[in-house]
Amino acid sequence: MSKSNVHHIPVLLEEVIRCLKPTDGESFLDVTAGMGGHAAAVIAATAAPERATLVDRDPQAADVLREKFKKSTILDRDFLSASRKLLETGKKFDMILADLGVSSLHFEDQGRGFSFRKSGPLDMRMDPRQKLTADQIVNDWPKAELAGVLKNCGEEKRATMISDALVAVRPIANTVQLAAAVSRVMPRTGKIHPATKTFQALRIAVNNELVQLELSLPIWIELLKIQGRLAVISFHSLEDRIVKRFLEQHSKNLYEADLKLLTKKPITARPEEIDINPRARSAKLRAAVKIKIERK
Ligand SMILES: C[S@@+](CC[C@H](N)C(=O)[O-])C[C@H]1O[C@@H](n2cnc3c(N)ncnc32)[C@H](O)[C@@H]1O
Repeated sequence: MSKSNVHHIPVLLEEVIRCLKPTDGESFLDVTAGMGGHAAAVIAATAAPERATLVDRDPQAADVLREKFKKSTILDRDFLSASRKLLETGKKFDMILADLGVSSLHFEDQGRGFSFRKSGPLDMRMDPRQKLTADQIVNDWPKAELAGVLKNCGEEKRATMISDALVAVRPIANTVQLAAAVSRVMPRTGKIHPATKTFQALRIAVNNELVQLELSLPIWIELLKIQGRLAVISFHSLEDRIVKRFLEQHSKNLYEADLKLLTKKPITARPEEIDINPRARSAKLRAAVKIKIERK
């Protein structure tokens, strides 16, 4: 299947458009452009593809974007380094969107190792040019460090027990073996697979996702014009906590608020959307507009 045919349904699309309010000729930075679903809708509203910069650290996604958005600038690198580079150029944007995490491209390709339902290598890199893989963390890292990943990146309460169990059966060859090793020591509760948090933790650690987000948020404010809009969609509580705390700190009515919140509470998907796209169930959208700092 051609990569451009992979079906990724953009989450909370209407709500993103309502927050970003794209208008004719405006500039747009999509830091996680993926298959370009959100980008297509924003660019259709601005009618200014040449003023759009689309970033994705996955070279396959970047190829899809180059094919779909011939007039836009495509950057195939992680959003922290892309944002730093853009800051150096002095460019400013009317809208910035971050739709965090992985895309269908990752989950559907078992060779990428993101899914515990299909056998694949312990990889989980969004950017295959990167050195660190899930294999190294699972098979080479000391037990305490592995437990730290499960706890800090997966909020896994039984991190120590799981890391003991994994270390005892090393080497673990693939995703299915990993899921089975976790399942042997974790009771199944409800519909959630016992290895869900372990896989999430490894993916976040491999791609350094929390650090990327923490360090990029302040740069995104810098990259916005006054009255520019920032929208961030997160898919788990670790990410959402970072976004929430950051937006609150920058919009507090103290000396130097430089953001005004557009969402007091996060926007979540309607049941109709979740029916069509179950991935939308955990999505939380937060947005803000950049304002002039008023010293009080
Ligand atoms: C949820 S998908 C985005 C889907 C996109 N909004 C669409 O409508 O097609 C997230 C994308 O962001 C990319 N990504 C995640 N973290 C990134 C980072 N730190 N830097 C650059 N790209 C990243 C992933 O490779 C993935 O393609």
